[in-house]
Amino acid sequence: MRIGIGVLLLICVSVSPVWAEPEEIEKKGCRDCHRFSSEEKQPASGPDLFYAGDKFHENWLKEFLQSPKVIRKVGYITDPGFPSGNPEVSQPHSTLTHEESARVSTFLMTLHLPDYETGKVDDVPLSKGARAQAKMLFERNFGCIACHEALNLVGKVRGGVSGPTLVDSGLRLKPDWVFHWLKSPEKFLPRGRMPVFNLDDETAIRITKYVLSIRTKK
Ligand code: HEC
Ligand code: HEC
Repeated sequence: MRIGIGVLLLICVSVSPVWAEPEEIEKKGCRDCHRFSSEEKQPASGPDLFYAGDKFHENWLKEFLQSPKVIRKVGYITDPGFPSGNPEVSQPHSTLTHEESARVSTFLMTLHLPDYETGKVDDVPLSKGARAQAKMLFERNFGCIACHEALNLVGKVRGGVSGPTLVDSGLRLKPDWVFHWLKSPEKFLPRGRMPVFNLDDETAIRITKYVLSIRTKK
């Protein structure tokens, strides 16, 4: 019997570190600005991370946590300096070492929403014609460009900065997450500033594919 429990403990101990929260999260005060569970109280200054595994590509996380780029030039929407364009939280973000970033990214990728539907967006790219149409929706019909940076025909960055930049977002965001965000941003951010467009699935898929194709890197 004793041996049995010993073996069981050994299994638990050797399995748990994969899912355990890495100590950097506590040590570096990540919770001062981010929520890692929907149960936590919303801090004022940073985006939620409790669905990071649904939202981000792991390689992007690893890279960002070591050498962060600014995604929201005027700060996160809850930053007191957001309306004036002078964020109080310092930019760019604080950094982690290679090892710390690997540990934290592995942990972040285990954070998921319950009842989250995947498989909404396939990986077939838009045809040239469909992409041109989706670009029209993005720029003219829905005016996404007024709040988000994208690329013009010759590859120059243009667009508004009140929302996060969408340039190279295909390296950062998972297709299904973008789809769900476009369908109902209020589910992720109840008092956000992203308009609710009531898109049908087909249009949301087309715009998702267009957004994720806005790339400077091949
Ligand atoms: C002082 C507040 C603050 C602290 C501390 C902080 N962050 Fe952030 N974090 C932010 C803000 C603000 C952004 C948005 C940056 C941007 O858009 O350019 C951000 C962005 C991120 C992102 C990208 C999220 C997204 O939706 O774009 C990740 C991942 C992240 N932080 C992880 C961490 C981790 C892990 C720690 C601890 C090691 C940490 N942060 C510590 C404020 C903070
Ligand atoms: C009135 C301004 C506005 C318009 C118009 C707008 N957005 Fe947004 N959008 C925002 C803001 C603000 C956020 C920020 C939430 C945040 O900071 O994470 C956002 C967030 C996003 C995100 C999530 C990015 C992330 O990293 O969290 C995507 C994707 C996005 N918008 C795409 C679009 C698309 C596509 C359209 C057009 C169909 C559009 N937006 C129209 C303001 C806007």
